[in-house]
Parts: sequence; C-alpha cells; structure tokens
Amino acid sequence: MVSHLANPVSIQRDLQSDRLHLQHFASPQAEDCSGQDVLEGLTRHPIKTIPAQYFYDDRGSQLFEQICTLPEYYPTRTEISILASSSAAIAQAIGPCEVVELGSGNSSKIRHLLNAQQTLNFPLRYLPLDVSGSILKDSALGLLADYPSLTIAGVVATYELGLAHLPPLQLPKRIICFFGSTLGNLTPDQCDRFFKLIHRSLKPGEYFLLGVDLQKSTPILEAAYNDSQGITAAFNLNMLQHLNWRFQGNFCLENFSHRAIYNPQAQQIEMYLDSRTDQRATLSALGLEIELAQGEAILTEISRKFDLASLRQDLTAAGLPPQQIWQDPQGWFALILCQARSLTRRG
Ligand code: AVI
Repeated sequence: MVSHLANPVSIQRDLQSDRLHLQHFASPQAEDCSGQDVLEGLTRHPIKTIPAQYFYDDRGSQLFEQICTLPEYYPTRTEISILASSSAAIAQAIGPCEVVELGSGNSSKIRHLLNAQQTLNFPLRYLPLDVSGSILKDSALGLLADYPSLTIAGVVATYELGLAHLPPLQLPKRIICFFGSTLGNLTPDQCDRFFKLIHRSLKPGEYFLLGVDLQKSTPILEAAYNDSQGITAAFNLNMLQHLNWRFQGNFCLENFSHRAIYNPQAQQIEMYLDSRTDQRATLSALGLEIELAQGEAILTEISRKFDLASLRQDLTAAGLPPQQIWQDPQGWFALILCQARSLTRRG
C-alpha cells in the first residue's frame, strides 16, 4: 500500500475512553525539520520558492483563521453556506457512514454533516485527521460535549500516514471529506497522486466529499488574496519570520512586499514575496546564503481555481466519479460527492 510504512513509525495513544481515541503518528517524513525542502526551494531556478507548509506556525495559523472571516475571502463562507443547505441530502445519499475529515482543524464545517446524520438517527462516528494534535484534541472535546452519541477516533498525522492507519471500520461505510479547496494548493501532479491516495483508502461504494473553489472573474479572485486589511500580506510575510525562527535566519521583512495575481493560463492565484531591494539573506542552520535582486520574486503559494467539467473527468479517471454536485447561487464554489468504484487495469 504505502511504501514508506516499512519505515519506523512512532505511535502514541492517549485519552483512551469509550468515546474518544487519539493516535499520534510520527514518521521520518512527518518529523522532517531538516529544511532540505527550504534549501531546495530557495536555490531553485528560474524562480525561488518556499514550500507552503511554512505558512502554518502558530501565528500563521491564527492569521489564516482571520483570512477565513475577511469580507473579500469568499471561499470559507460560501462553502459553509453550501454545506448548510446540502448536508441533509448528503446524509440521505450516503446512509449510515463513518466520517473521515482530512485537515480537520477546528472541525466546524463537519458539524453540518453530523447534525444531518443525527436528525436521521444514524450512529455518529467521526475520524478527524490533522497534523496539529492540540487543535484536534480541543475540537474533539467540543464535539463530544455537543453530540452525546458521537464517538471519535482522531489521527494526528500527515494525510498519507493517517489514511494508512485509520482504525477498523465500525459502521457499514466511510466517507472521506476534504473541504476548503485545499486541493487547489496542490500542483496537477500532486493532485493526481492525492486522488490515487484517496482511491486506495476507500472500498468500492464508499464516498469522497470534496469542496473546491471555481473559476471566476479576476478582480474577485485577486481581491480575495489582496485584502484591504492586509491580513493576507501579513500571512505571506510571516513565512519569512517562521524561517528566521526555525533556521536562524536574518530575512528582513521590511525588504519584501506581498503580491497575489491570477494567472489565467495556469488558472491559479500565485502568491509571491517580492524583494524591494538588492539584498542577501542567510539561514545559518541550513548553511544557506541567498542573493535577491530588486524586484525578484519568491513564489510562496499556488491556489488553483477549478473548472467543473475537467475536474469531473480527473475524478472519474481516478475511480472517484462524481454522483452529485452542489453549488452556491453564484456558482463560485462546489461541493462534489464522489463514489469510489474499482478501476479495471488495462494492458
Ligand atoms: C488553505 N488554502 C485553501 C487557502 C487558499 O485559498 O488557497 C490558503 C490561502 N492563502 C491565502 N489566502 C488563503
């Protein structure tokens, strides 16, 4: 199945109780703080990059939560409105089902589906998967207080490791939910690999629920990533602060500016940190010194905006054909319910 599982994996279990089980997994990959990825990205030609995972230190996670509430950042509230209006239909369509959520965070979106399952008197079982153990535990405790019949088996791990170690099935089927259009932060190749991972994590007949941001006019997209309060700019610049802390660096934040543009050919928002001046920066812990010319850009994130027809084709080719799609009245965001089928091998 997942080849690196042959590597040592440390598992720590805590909070064993009737209703809550948590497992913590740490693999050599998950714990990789060597900075190899930063070294590789900042020496890349023709354009330097910083891997998007470095957005999310404590301050970065707080700033992202603020972004989700900004008037210009429509994806979060639009997805929530679709979830609120479609969850009853989703719960009906899938029947009694364990709910796995990738990148569960504060678990607020999943409440819509749990409410719908509860209304139908279905058993409630939730399997949140997140890299942050503290956030997962806090949100799990909140859910247990609000849903008396809920049991939770949380997994603190990367998607790949967590999906490979989900606890045994207790209900007839599973649904894997992936909200927030986080899919858009993957390149097309990473996206193909991700769909393969989802497919091999499901049995035929089980479900995948995917939230994706759709193509729309450039001004709306660019406003969402260049908000008037400067929160997205702070989120982008914080990445340098994070690198300074983690790798003993001396990036001077005042020497950079945030830029987010829509690239219509690639159909993606691209976020950059532009160098305001000719400068050098060092990350001592990595033995790295880089030079940046005035106007030189570091790519920090892509956020792809999807076309439903081609996404439908990609999902179908991956053995995850869409069964039903819900959208907001403006057609800005989509929630796609896919059902896994076995793929017949050819050749
Ligand atoms: C997490 N991800 C889906 C967000 C997005 O819209 O691509 C990250 C983000 N970057 C800037 N604003 C939000």
